[in-house]
Amino acid sequence: MLIRTPKAWELPESIVTPERDYELRPRRDFLKTLGLGLAGAALGSRAGLATTAGFPSKVNPDYRDPALKPTPYEYITSYNNFYEFGMDKADPKPNANKGWKTEPWTVEIAGLVNKPIKIEANDLVEKMGGVEQRVYRFRCVEAWSMVIPWDGFPLAKLVAFADPKPEARFLRMTTFLDLKNAPGQRAGNLEYPYVEGLRLDEANHELAFIATGIYGRAIPNQNGAPLRLVTPWKYGFKCVKSIVKFEFVARQPRNTWNIMAANEYGFYANVNPNVDHPRWSQASERVIGGGGVLGSRQKTLLFNGYEKQVAGLYQGLDLKRNY
Ligand code: MTE
Repeated sequence: MLIRTPKAWELPESIVTPERDYELRPRRDFLKTLGLGLAGAALGSRAGLATTAGFPSKVNPDYRDPALKPTPYEYITSYNNFYEFGMDKADPKPNANKGWKTEPWTVEIAGLVNKPIKIEANDLVEKMGGVEQRVYRFRCVEAWSMVIPWDGFPLAKLVAFADPKPEARFLRMTTFLDLKNAPGQRAGNLEYPYVEGLRLDEANHELAFIATGIYGRAIPNQNGAPLRLVTPWKYGFKCVKSIVKFEFVARQPRNTWNIMAANEYGFYANVNPNVDHPRWSQASERVIGGGGVLGSRQKTLLFNGYEKQVAGLYQGLDLKRNY
């Protein structure tokens, strides 16, 4: 990332909702907390939210470690990296809600699959059997972290739905291209559209997730509505937002940050405190919202704390070379 002094996200404490309002609960209760009630739910788009199918979501207890304290909603949704809408952390929230529409939204499943399809995002969510809620750690390569209650479905379900051919070994995911509504794309601050990729065994890993919501509410535009990738053992730049295409391919695809600076950002992007970024250490991280606005520091864990689950994917792989 192009590193900037953290100033834009210095939110006043007054707008941060008290911790007690962040217990995990169904969408309806959460909206009541916000004073929106059912009328507000029906008018989700007024608040800049895509009204994605599948809510209220069910908490999946297997992915809810009680030791993890979720980051307040306001931080998750106002301290963002979404270069299509600007390079400052505070840019995406206003800029992604100025007329950019994320519903309806067409998603294409293509490439080496037996079931290529173009499908509306809500219909896809229904085909995936609705949404569940999981609480995951989130670690950015810029050495800050959050804990996020995501709603969505396992990526493995989408892979099964696509029915890949035996030659398919990687999954390439592409973000929208909309020069009219995305000022960052007009300015050309990165090469667009933003693309990312996973090995197929990574895409099929139980932790790989497609998020359509946060805290039981439809995911806001600035967080990548209506569908974004979540791979909690990898740096945040892997988590491509607002996906329009899932393409199954035979060869390892390139990914946006690797295209921009290959010596700084690799394909794997696995969180690793022992492999520093050329410009800064990855040994520790700033916990956003923890211990004051600027966050306290904590040690970074290998694979972001998911070593037990994912280490098997990388047996025999030199993690220093394959960063
Ligand atoms: N996806 C797109 N399309 N464009 C981006 O600029 N930024 C990435 C990732 N996905 C990005 C993207 C980076 S660098 C991070 S850290 C996360 O999104 C940030 O997600 P958040 O804003 O929901 O915290």
